[in-house]
Order: sequence, then structure tokens, then C-alpha cells
Amino acid sequence: KQRLAIITSGGDAPGMNASIRAITLKALQNGYDVIGFIAGFHGLINAEFIQLDLKSVDNIIHKGGTILKTARCKDMFNEQGVKKASCTLNNLDIESLIVIGGDGSFKGAQALSEYWHGQIIGIPGTIDNDINGTDQTIGFWTAIDTALDCIDKIRDTADAFDRIFVIEVMGRDCGFIAMESGIASGAQQIICHELISDEADFIQQLLISIKKASKQSYPQSYVIVVAENALSFSTAELAKKISEYTQVDTRSAILGYVQRGGAPVAMDRVLATQLGIKAVEAINKQKRNLMIGMSKGEIITFPLSQTGLKNKTNKDLIKRLEQFSFNLTI
Ligand code: F6P
Repeated sequence: KQRLAIITSGGDAPGMNASIRAITLKALQNGYDVIGFIAGFHGLINAEFIQLDLKSVDNIIHKGGTILKTARCKDMFNEQGVKKASCTLNNLDIESLIVIGGDGSFKGAQALSEYWHGQIIGIPGTIDNDINGTDQTIGFWTAIDTALDCIDKIRDTADAFDRIFVIEVMGRDCGFIAMESGIASGAQQIICHELISDEADFIQQLLISIKKASKQSYPQSYVIVVAENALSFSTAELAKKISEYTQVDTRSAILGYVQRGGAPVAMDRVLATQLGIKAVEAINKQKRNLMIGMSKGEIITFPLSQTGLKNKTNKDLIKRLEQFSFNLTI
């Protein structure tokens, strides 16, 4: 029997379990022996794994996190670690490996491909949606919905107090979560790296526009969604600057890790399932060193070596934000 292994690696993302399930079911159906390494590349290095069968993937499609555990594994950035991982795969007679994770995990996968000559297939799983070559990553839509739910709740208190709120969402260095949750929550401002070339000038314009709005009776609540790492100073400091400049009570909130947890929304479960099935099909066709992604609504394959992080001047994101900005003065 041909042996296929799965790992989940890097930041967990809702929908990873749905992907593990789809891969396992499809691979079992195609006659493979399926195993899952524990805690990403750590499991490969330390030969820690479990057998995956019908029972192990039963009733997991709706669960957040990952049944295989995950980790950020620094050892994959040194030769010794990569060689160990490669040895484990050879010793266990594994012929193909599916890596579900983000950019760091794909880098680990590429390092591995230099020593191990089995088939490696990547599946993009990260809430950040920052992987080049795919329009969507597993977990992204769930994170947006979670952020949205929190922003809506904060909007209630912002409205009750006529306060300004600065709300920080995740995304590492990418503004997609801020953009989508900002659009969906009707945020008055969305701040992300992609929009900032000169920070001092950007902040000055922002303060002027907030002050202008605060002098009008509309809107009564003012919500600013900011992507983490977008600014060189903290979200709390931004709130302080706004408060001082406008004389309006301004508070800040960091949504943090809540955005990574919870049951995956339908879109993430479906995407994870589609990508998982396609990954096994790619293995059947003897493909290697590919990422399975989604582009313009189609499931596609993309060279793993060309993935990397989405560019900071991401034009798609800027265009989409422009499309949704109203620029009203009342
Ligand atoms: O990549 C997912 C993510 O949640 C990012 O949005 C965030 O910057 C990072 O992981 C946090 O990493 P850690 O879990 O290592 O603190």
C-alpha cells in the first residue's frame, strides 16, 4: 500500500480539520495508507504520528483548531532538522506528504524537497489570506466572521457612548482581514499597510478627517478597523492621538486570538474539502511541489516555489477598498 502523510503547520486556521478529513477519506478511497504527523514539522523530526482511519476523521468537519496539533518549527530552517524530517519519511516508507499551512510551512516544505524526493503538496491554511497564488486560504472567512461579530458588538457600545473606537484585527502583514471585516461592519476607516506610503502624512489626514466627522452629528459612533502591524506604534497610542486631536472619547480594542478559533464557516469547510480532494488527485497524477489553491472560483495548482507572501502593495486589495469607500460629507 502506498503511504500518504498529512501535517498541519504554523498558525491553526478554522477548516484545517475539514481538510484533514477530506484528504483522509479521498486517500482511503483510493487505497492509500494514511498517517498524520503530530504538531507539524516537529512530528516529522521526532517521528511522532498517528494512523488516520475513517473513525479518526469522523465528526471533525465542524471543529476549529486541528486534531493533528500544530507548531511553528524553527528546526526546519537548519539542515540538521530538515535531514531528520527526511529520514523519518524514508524510514516510514512514506511516498507523499500534504502540508496544510501558511508561508512559513511552505518554506519548510520547500527545504524538505531538497532532501526528500517524495511528492509534496501544499494546501494554504491561514486566517491571513496572505499566500501568493491563491485567492483564498482556509480559515480566512471564519476569521472575518469572528472579527465582524466582535466589531458589531463594539459598535453597540461606541454608539451608546458616542465614542470613537479603534479595533485591531489580525493578518500579520496583510490587510485582508481588516479590509473584509471593515467593509462588512461599515467601518468609517480601514487602516492597513497596503494603504500607507508615508505614515506621518497618513495619520495627519486621518486625524483631520475624524475631527471633521466628529463635528457633524453623523455618524454618532465612529469605528476604525486597523490591521495589526500596519502602524509603527500601538493601537492604544493611535486611540490616544485621536482622542487628543478630536477631544472625543476614543477607546481601543485588540481582538487577538479569538479570530483564530471557533467552528469554520461553510465557505471554509467547502474550500478545505475541495482543496483536500484535489491534493489527493494531484498525488494520484504523480504531481509534486505544488500548492492547491483557488483562483477566480476555480481550484488550481501553483508551483510551491512561487508561493511566498502577497505583496504589500497588493493592488487587488486597494482596488476593492476604493470600490467600497463612500467619501461623503454631509
Ligand atoms: O498567521 C496567523 C496569525 O494569527 C497572524 O494573524 C498573527 O500575526 C500570528 O499568527 C500570531 O502568531 P502566534 O500564534 O505565533 O502568536
